[in-house]
Amino acid sequence: MKSPIPDYLKQVLEQIRDQDGGAPADYIETLAKADTSRLAVALAMVDGQVYSAGDDSVEFSIQSISKAFVYAIAIEDAGLDAVLAKIGVEPSGDAFNKLSLERGSNRPMNPMINAGAITAHSLVIGPNATAEKRTERILSVLSRLAGRQLSVDEEVYQAELRDADRNMGIGYMLKAAGIIACDPREAVTGYIRQCSINVNVRDLAMMSATLCNAGIHPVTGESIIPQTSVRQVLSVMTTCGMYDAAGSWVSRIGIPAKSGVAGAIIGALPGQVGLATFSPRLDERGNSVRGVKICERLSSDMGLHMM
Ligand code: DON
Repeated sequence: MKSPIPDYLKQVLEQIRDQDGGAPADYIETLAKADTSRLAVALAMVDGQVYSAGDDSVEFSIQSISKAFVYAIAIEDAGLDAVLAKIGVEPSGDAFNKLSLERGSNRPMNPMINAGAITAHSLVIGPNATAEKRTERILSVLSRLAGRQLSVDEEVYQAELRDADRNMGIGYMLKAAGIIACDPREAVTGYIRQCSINVNVRDLAMMSATLCNAGIHPVTGESIIPQTSVRQVLSVMTTCGMYDAAGSWVSRIGIPAKSGVAGAIIGALPGQVGLATFSPRLDERGNSVRGVKICERLSSDMGLHMM
């Protein structure tokens, strides 16, 4: 019998297709030119089944969604205590590109804002790592999570690098505050490169399902992220993953989540399902307008809210 899930997903897409307010991110030239008609959704179950609809093979840059996974890598490479000494776990309530350092400790408030993500990137491998080695490690882990070899979108990378003054500024402030040890320019270019890795919604749903499956890839069976790190990652996704919209997201949709400026969102419901959406127009907080609507609909129809 044909599974009704793909038909249901198609139906959801058709019902929200016309509700497309907002605008694509304009500070990265390549994203500003994105085809705003693109719309896709994917669900990956913890048993490895993947269902998708819409533009499910269209690739886009992972952007801030990489922050969740690089946080996990930083924990593995540096240890949780060392990571917590440098990056907090409190929501900042501010936009993702604000400096948002904690008073006293000088730590970035959390790993999902740029300051925290640049710091997490700098902790990958350890103090003697080169920028290349860090990026290689991140690309390799993200590829294992997706279940296929991913690659960097060089055009997106170059475009963001051309307009990276704000992130460079954050990098230098982090160095001055004693939070990052390496060359700030190296940490920021590496961070921008990690954001430029291309994925599609099926990749993202599988990466998310690995989080839902205690860090074990649902298809390959490989243990990629230790369970203690998964708990840490899902916790900060819950409180900080949707930036200054985190509170309304948790109350309305109730799934640990992370968004990116290319227009993707992942949601991860432990023990059940990883979901991913893609639609380039963003609201004023940087979250995909139709993506939020799809997630709201799936959460309500499938009873995914944690509470
Ligand atoms: O740091 C930046 O500006 C981007 N490369 C990533 C930001 C991002 O995806 C924020 N998400 N909504």
